[in-house]
Amino acid sequence: ANEDATNAANAGVGDATGAGSAIKTSAGATEVEVSTPYGPPSDPITVAEIGGRRVAFLPRHGRDHRYPPHKIPYRANIWALRALGVRQIIAPCAVGGLRPELGPGTFVVPDQLIDRTSGRVQTYYDQGAVHVNFADPYCPNGRRVLLESEVGPVDGGATVVVEGPRFSTRAESRWFTSIGGAVVNMTGHPEAVLARELAVCYSTIALVTDLDAGVEGDHGVTQDEVFRVFGENTERLRRVLLDAVTKLPAVRECVCSSALDGIKIPIELP
Ligand code: ADE
Repeated sequence: ANEDATNAANAGVGDATGAGSAIKTSAGATEVEVSTPYGPPSDPITVAEIGGRRVAFLPRHGRDHRYPPHKIPYRANIWALRALGVRQIIAPCAVGGLRPELGPGTFVVPDQLIDRTSGRVQTYYDQGAVHVNFADPYCPNGRRVLLESEVGPVDGGATVVVEGPRFSTRAESRWFTSIGGAVVNMTGHPEAVLARELAVCYSTIALVTDLDAGVEGDHGVTQDEVFRVFGENTERLRRVLLDAVTKLPAVRECVCSSALDGIKIPIELP
């Protein structure tokens, strides 16, 4: 994960091909600038080999954190990763806990998602009939690999994704808990559905940085604590990611890989 990105990035594994222009090489890693029909991604993408796998890394907020959650170029990011050959994305993120037992420092591998964003473009398909199956938004193989991780993550729970950039009120937060939310964040959507629309696997490992306002009952959530707890856990997260990317299956057989089977898509995928 990237040190100065609050909620890190998309780590994708795939057969990195030559899309884009390589601009720098350091310690065996190459930085690639990729252009997409949706503008540039958040940053150049770093491509390297880890444990015999080709891995691409993209900090979703940009390495200087210039994109707030509601301004991230989500379509460009997922498109650019796929253009580089990425077929499996592991997306780390910071979340607030919506249940008292999911306190700061806990890792969660969610299995469901509730979209409470507004005004974000969440599709590549503005023409034709393209309706992907999104009943289970996260790749089962990515989830399995993440669940084997040494940090002993909690298995399952729904991520509620809010528009931000503000944190939620206590009433909103209590409501999220009452409708089945386990954790809350601002970036999990539309990343997950855009990956599915490109038949790319997507799973997420969520680090709880705070108890959300409806649970903690004291001072509410502050940016300070979110950044601090994330910073304190970056090394643990880095180990989880390095381990997970080497364990992803070489051959994909999952709902994500077949998401576009039998559907006539009106655009050419990268
Ligand atoms: N990211 C980290 N903590 C959060 C919270 N409580 N609400 C929304 N996004 C978050």
